[in-house]
Amino acid sequence: MNILVTGGAGYIGSHVVELLLREGYDVVVVDNLSQGHRAAVGAGAQLVEVDICAPDGVESTFRKFRFDAVMHLAGESIVQASTRDPGKSFYTNVAGGLNLLEKMARHGVSKMIFSSTASVYGEPKAALIPEDHPTEPVNPYGESKLMFERILCWYARAHGLRYISLRYFNAAGASAALGEDHRPETHLIPIVLKSALSGEPVPVFGTDYPTRDGTCIRDYIHVTDIARAHLAALERLETQTSGVYNLGNGDGFSVREVVNVAGNVTGRDIPMEVRPRRPGDPAVLVADASRARVELGWQPEIPGLEAIIASAWEWSRRHPRGYE
Ligand code: UFG
Repeated sequence: MNILVTGGAGYIGSHVVELLLREGYDVVVVDNLSQGHRAAVGAGAQLVEVDICAPDGVESTFRKFRFDAVMHLAGESIVQASTRDPGKSFYTNVAGGLNLLEKMARHGVSKMIFSSTASVYGEPKAALIPEDHPTEPVNPYGESKLMFERILCWYARAHGLRYISLRYFNAAGASAALGEDHRPETHLIPIVLKSALSGEPVPVFGTDYPTRDGTCIRDYIHVTDIARAHLAALERLETQTSGVYNLGNGDGFSVREVVNVAGNVTGRDIPMEVRPRRPGDPAVLVADASRARVELGWQPEIPGLEAIIASAWEWSRRHPRGYE
């Protein structure tokens, strides 16, 4: 089976590619390498350096290869960047995605696994968020992903597209060979681990949220568990209809708790420095992922925060300069 993975050089995409190759799939990666790393693309995959927004580049990729399914992970994924520059998020995540869907329709590729996000929900109205929770994004990033989810419904009706949207909560951790290396880094766990190495304080964005210690609460899910859900989703599309699934552990940890657990894992003191709130951050995001457990037969293999952080720590210690 030949799978196109867009964003396959990125943090989550590269872990998906690693798993697909291990399971014997043929993999083509489309990535413009603006955020991804050539070195993160598994040796068995073919890398096509193309932007998903480029009509000709994507068209020629579909002409060159015959795909059985597309796993679409390329996109602008940084919440705060989207609040500063919404146009970029909408252009890449909506227009780029549309470009891909048009080529899929033209070339008869009818299956897509889409990388969506917990950001589609906005401020939660329940302790655990199920998929039928209202979707009221509080940042352009979440809005752009929600728009593309809606577009998928219309392509399903018009062109017989079969799709699964996976709404990731906070991806974290690393495999033995691959890790998280964003430039600049904005994600909490890699920033905390850098602080463990350098002694620089971790900026804590907001301590006045309505949470148990005033800092934001997130559901951290291991990146390899997210990768496994892509395979489960692909298998489900063989026999079942389209759907939307949350991917999370169902446990929320505050920023301070993450720093404390990281302190235990690394055995180092990690200082914190209070900063103002970051625009676009909901106070709490914790998944009810029971639908994925029941319908995809998926369940996290590394659910504990300590193990998640330990895997990321292992990778950062072995790769203090990331992929360079
Ligand atoms: N945070 C800090 N200091 C930092 C970095 C982050 O306090 O230096 C806080 C943030 O304010 C937030 C929490 O830590 O409350 C997590 O922030 P991240 O940047 O690690 O992750 P986000 O929750 O902003 O976003 C991530 C992904 C999105 C995804 C979302 C789903 O980047 O793509 O999780 O919850 F949609």
